[in-house]
Amino acid sequence: MTTWPAGTDLVVFDSIDSTNEEARRRVEAGDSGPLWIASKQQTKGRGRQGRNWQSQPGNLAATGLFPFAGTPAEAAKLSFATSLAAAEVFEALAPRAKIALKWPNDALLNGKKAAGILLENLGTGADGSLRLAIGIGLNLIHAPPAEETKWPATSIQAESGSKPDFDMALLTLAARLDHWMTTMRTGGFAAIRTAWLSRAINLGRQIEVRLPTETLNGGFKGLDDNGALVLEMPGEVRHISAGDVYFAEGV
Ligand code: BTN
Repeated sequence: MTTWPAGTDLVVFDSIDSTNEEARRRVEAGDSGPLWIASKQQTKGRGRQGRNWQSQPGNLAATGLFPFAGTPAEAAKLSFATSLAAAEVFEALAPRAKIALKWPNDALLNGKKAAGILLENLGTGADGSLRLAIGIGLNLIHAPPAEETKWPATSIQAESGSKPDFDMALLTLAARLDHWMTTMRTGGFAAIRTAWLSRAINLGRQIEVRLPTETLNGGFKGLDDNGALVLEMPGEVRHISAGDVYFAEGV
């Protein structure tokens, strides 16, 4: 049975500006977590690279606020742990769909994006540990239209044919992220990387990576110790730490 992580608080809103913003406010007020902040709607949801994140009523927006005794670079690797947890929510709620992960941290259902992750370092507490906000948006019943996204999007309802339960999604997310964070604490990134690669879409195949100033094509060889994408191109191997991945051959 899936159980809520011991010692972790929970607050649920019907609507909020952004659960990551609420985490920031709570850190400013002295809170360090562990705490989940969840909402059924966001009015100012934020995505990666300054994009908006649509959070229509009925979807799940959630931010886990955690103290983290490690460096910012180690903390950043938790985004892979979070993607794994999102994939496991899909598995619980859309068991017949094809589930895959796309670098750096998109979770796909039948090749379309149904979850997004925004991990923010909110600073260092008096105890010396970081304050991490791990924000996750799960498209339970709504997805943004194609013209508004860089990558096709979908919802769990659209792919499973049934309405997913908000509480079950949140419980599974919290429990599985707790599992993967424990794995990372005890076994380091190696175990996370192995699990992530086992779900990675198009591993070993040709991909396109769009960077702000150039577009690269090469073979997707894996992740390095820092979570950078390893891209093999004629005569060189590049380790890419930020960019958008596309597939020439489709998904
Ligand atoms: C992405 O661009 O793919 C990341 C989207 C992250 C959205 C989530 S929803 C919960 C949390 N609160 C926010 O404002 N953003 C994150």
